[in-house]
Amino acid sequence: MSYTGVQVLDHPLIRHKLTLLRNRNTTHKDFRQLAEELAGLMTYEVCRNMRTRSCPVETPLEHYDGQELENEVTIVPILRAGLVMAQGMLDMIPHARVGHIGLFRDETTLQPVEYYCKLPDSVHDSDVFIVDPMLATGGSASKAISLVKERRPRNISFCCIIAAPEGIEVLQRDHPDVKIVTLEIDRQLNENGYILPGLGDAGDRIYGTK
Ligand code: PRP
Ligand code: URA
Repeated sequence: MSYTGVQVLDHPLIRHKLTLLRNRNTTHKDFRQLAEELAGLMTYEVCRNMRTRSCPVETPLEHYDGQELENEVTIVPILRAGLVMAQGMLDMIPHARVGHIGLFRDETTLQPVEYYCKLPDSVHDSDVFIVDPMLATGGSASKAISLVKERRPRNISFCCIIAAPEGIEVLQRDHPDVKIVTLEIDRQLNENGYILPGLGDAGDRIYGTK
């Protein structure tokens, strides 16, 4: 399945790790590590169009006309599950700032409930990556993007591991200007708002809470 405006990162190593991640027999420890590694791999591609500027340096031997990233980078995990993705990205962009948005889905209405929001002042001048492994109904991602947009960042990408068609449609309706990057697009949601085939509840699998 392909969606205009959604970037799906297909790579043999990503397919391999994503299959391990989905496996119900994968332990919490391995799940955490795999999710972090997948986010690290994703970082390479989501940074492809970042602007760079001249950064001349002296090597031990001679002058070199180098380059450095031009803009601030802010990574915003949606708590809880986004935290491991943020760590995977930070391993690749250690100078990035980190904002946190706390949201959980009300189990009955499936609507996002906000409980925390702390964003760096510099967000208005940043390339922002909002990260959450799961884009299901799209409610959490849409709410998080609205909170970040209040700070007027340069641009926002929403990065997830698995996206459902329903969530993509909601994000493209609410935030057509935001780029969606995912590793796979799954078939559909079930009656409880879980992604099929999916990987279950990402937060519970990461933290072993169920
Ligand atoms: C999960 C997931 C997303 C959200 C996606 O979090 O990490 O944030 O559900 O669902 P949606 O697209 O339908 O909004 P959850 O609400 O389970 O909170 P948790 O991370 O605290 O477990
Ligand atoms: N949140 C999850 O963690 N998993 C899903 O399948 C849907 C929402």
